[in-house]
Amino acid sequence: MFRTLNQLNVRGKRVLVRADLNVPAKDGIVTDDSRIERSAATLIELARRGARVIVMSHFGRPKGVDAAFSMRFLVDPLSKAVGQPVAWAEDCIGRDTARLVGSLRDGEICLLENVRFHAEEEANDPAFARELALLGDLYVNDAFSCAHRAHASTEALAHLLPSAAGLLMQAELEALGKALEKPEKPVAAIVGGSKVSTKLDLLGNLVAKVDYLIIGGGMANTFLYAQGKAVGKSLCERDLADTAREILDKARDAHCHIVLPVDVVVADRFGAGAATQVVSVDAVPEDQMILDAGPASAEAIIDRLGGCKTLVWNGPLGAFEIEPFDKATTAVAQWAAERTAQGRLLTVAGGGDTVSALAKAGVEGKFSYISLAGGAFLEWLEGKELPGIVALSQGA
Ligand code: 3PG
Repeated sequence: MFRTLNQLNVRGKRVLVRADLNVPAKDGIVTDDSRIERSAATLIELARRGARVIVMSHFGRPKGVDAAFSMRFLVDPLSKAVGQPVAWAEDCIGRDTARLVGSLRDGEICLLENVRFHAEEEANDPAFARELALLGDLYVNDAFSCAHRAHASTEALAHLLPSAAGLLMQAELEALGKALEKPEKPVAAIVGGSKVSTKLDLLGNLVAKVDYLIIGGGMANTFLYAQGKAVGKSLCERDLADTAREILDKARDAHCHIVLPVDVVVADRFGAGAATQVVSVDAVPEDQMILDAGPASAEAIIDRLGGCKTLVWNGPLGAFEIEPFDKATTAVAQWAAERTAQGRLLTVAGGGDTVSALAKAGVEGKFSYISLAGGAFLEWLEGKELPGIVALSQGA
């Protein structure tokens, strides 16, 4: 186990906080500030307790110094989120940065430039990590969404400074723990998205852990095809039919019930205004493509979930970006949100598209927990150890 924020004595100390401020942005404007908002709690708490707070993050995937990936544009939104001015350091290491950090007073906050402007960050270079460590007395990792990266600011620092998990990291781990490690049973998982190939490990891990595995999105087509059904022009990884059958076998051995669509919404193209029809999975026309689970499938899913206490959700049930192919996702999400409000279902969701799909369904904030982590959430669902968490547990 690792230390939490309230176990650190931070007054007058320089606290290096690894946050994830890798936010969606366009032309220097933040288009979704959820990560900033959620990171603010730890920074506010540290400042309130008299720490000198130094915030580190990456933004995008720059190859060296690149103005297009500068984090300067985050100073204002971050200042707004924490309710006080945030100072800016042009680099994340070096003499000028050390001087700026040295001038911070208790309760003040500064933001460092993109740690990925130095290739040594991603290389988890020990000398670079030591340079970062020079800036702080303590290290707080608040970036669960980067915990799958063994980088200097997410991994090495935990070995160099007394460290703790931040409030967001703690909240993520608690929510995820309740969902899969010590869940109230029965547990269901909804796994959607376009391709089986990207979620093989995840499916393999989940069949051993959950009672119901509900498969939707394009990946369901591969399973239907593996069962000998015609899928027309649908997205389908025909070469993975054997793998899909192996997953079905593994699920049967583990007493995990796989739930696949029984009816589907088809169209001749994926676009707004396309003519759609609902057909049985046994009658998908050759010239049509599956774009959503049908109403009977949504009802069957809800029926299954009705007996469950815990739901983990990753990936939409259909091509939700274009209406009306968001219907099944929306119907199940709204039902799950209602059930959550009644205290009858613990709902944890995460991973790129999932958050957008749930926001489109209007249930953001109505699930027990929605993780803003993408890759880290997937790796956690795959049952992998996340280097950032391991390092925090091992400590300095
Ligand atoms: C994310 O957006 O998932 C995290 O910030 C990690 O970003 P990365 O995939 O570029 O490491």
